[in-house]
Amino acid sequence: MQLDYAGVLAQMRAKPALFRLKSFPSLDAAEADRRLAAHRFLTDYAAHFVHSRYVGGALPRLPFFDNSFDLVLCAHLLFLYMARFDFEWHVAACRELARVSAGEVRIHPVCGADGRPCSKLGALRRELKASGIESEVERLDYEFFVGSGSMLVLRKESA
Ligand SMILES: C[S@@+](CC[C@H](N)C(=O)[O-])C[C@H]1O[C@@H](n2cnc3c(N)ncnc32)[C@H](O)[C@@H]1O
Repeated sequence: MQLDYAGVLAQMRAKPALFRLKSFPSLDAAEADRRLAAHRFLTDYAAHFVHSRYVGGALPRLPFFDNSFDLVLCAHLLFLYMARFDFEWHVAACRELARVSAGEVRIHPVCGADGRPCSKLGALRRELKASGIESEVERLDYEFFVGSGSMLVLRKESA
């Protein structure tokens, strides 16, 4: 994990123009925040992975019943990896996230790896609407990676 951090941080420092110092005063502060979050996660994971709090799975198919969660969060996967996961995968992943949610799905960010708005967002939202899923792009106070100042919120029309 230390090597992972070193690699990610070296990439961040090599491209400072990709980051906004709005939610964190410096890249050092952002690094400290991430290390704290990782520490909390690993501590909780060590204590609870045997009690099924953590369940492995991979989009676009999740091992949960319909409406299993009040709130479903997905960060730094959809839209950022458009080069690796195609449009159909994104539509299927959004439908699956909505299927397991009894309330909202929040997907962050809504930009590509270059920080530009996802060009296929309109088409994706139309596909979702056609299968009974409402969507909305909401602005956030938070922005670190340039272009990451919004999230996509999904709600099933029936919810
Ligand atoms: C950039 S990381 C983001 C991690 C974390 N969500 C965050 O915001 O810090 C992308 C994550 O997506 C996971 N991932 C890759 N393919 C996936 C798939 N098909 N379904 C679900 N997660 C996947 C990777 O294992 C990795 O943890």
